[in-house]
Amino acid sequence: MFGRIAGRYDLLNTVMSGGRHYAWRRKAVDLVMPSTPYKNGRALDIASGTGDFALDLALRQEVAGVIGLDFALRMLPIARKKAQKRKQGATASFLAGDAHNLPFADNTFVCATVGFGVRNFIDVPSALREIERVLKPGGKVAILEIVRQDGRNPVARLFPIYFRYVTPWLGSLIAGNREAYTYLPESVQEFMSASELKELMHAAGLKKVTVSSVAFGTTVILVGEAS
Ligand SMILES: C[S@@+](CC[C@H](N)C(=O)[O-])C[C@H]1O[C@@H](n2cnc3c(N)ncnc32)[C@H](O)[C@@H]1O
Repeated sequence: MFGRIAGRYDLLNTVMSGGRHYAWRRKAVDLVMPSTPYKNGRALDIASGTGDFALDLALRQEVAGVIGLDFALRMLPIARKKAQKRKQGATASFLAGDAHNLPFADNTFVCATVGFGVRNFIDVPSALREIERVLKPGGKVAILEIVRQDGRNPVARLFPIYFRYVTPWLGSLIAGNREAYTYLPESVQEFMSASELKELMHAAGLKKVTVSSVAFGTTVILVGEAS
């Protein structure tokens, strides 16, 4: 499914978030930046898609290089092309792989990001344990995700209605794929709330988990630290 929408994925992200997803990613990257002694280590972007998060990480002086990993083979060339266009080919590389079985040794990365990916994982607890495993102790992960609403915030309660009716229409208009963008609101409805995801991060061994809301709480940035 992700392969089929790869070509129009960026445009839809921008339209659906009103262009805000760039700022959300920058905020998430700020929250995971390593300090001494981990400065200049390697960073990992999981479920990297077209590579926006990986390329934001690669802009930062605090990290020496970034790997973006995704299992959708049609996403990877788009990410690589974007890296070359932005002259970031030397600092960001893209690799095929599964978030549930990361092809890296323990304690490899100083920080990690996952943007709009966790909701699609078939086994979220095991993918979170994998993230914790490949991070160096004290290394941070930021998870940017649209979450199921469990609060009383009225804007956030209206959001599922917008999402259910407008998103498939946009998907059909812009990406020519109504099915993928019908899956999106359904996947959010079936997904976890921010507090449930926070619990799972704790259970995976991530410490000091914080939750920051963006987009009126419909989207969150969860940050946790490897033990
Ligand atoms: C909605 S896109 C997000 C792309 C990008 N991270 C972003 O922030 O725009 C979800 C991505 O997760 C990838 N994905 C889903 N499950 C995965 C898994 N188990 N392992 C690796 N990638 C996965 C998909 O291929 C897709 O590219």
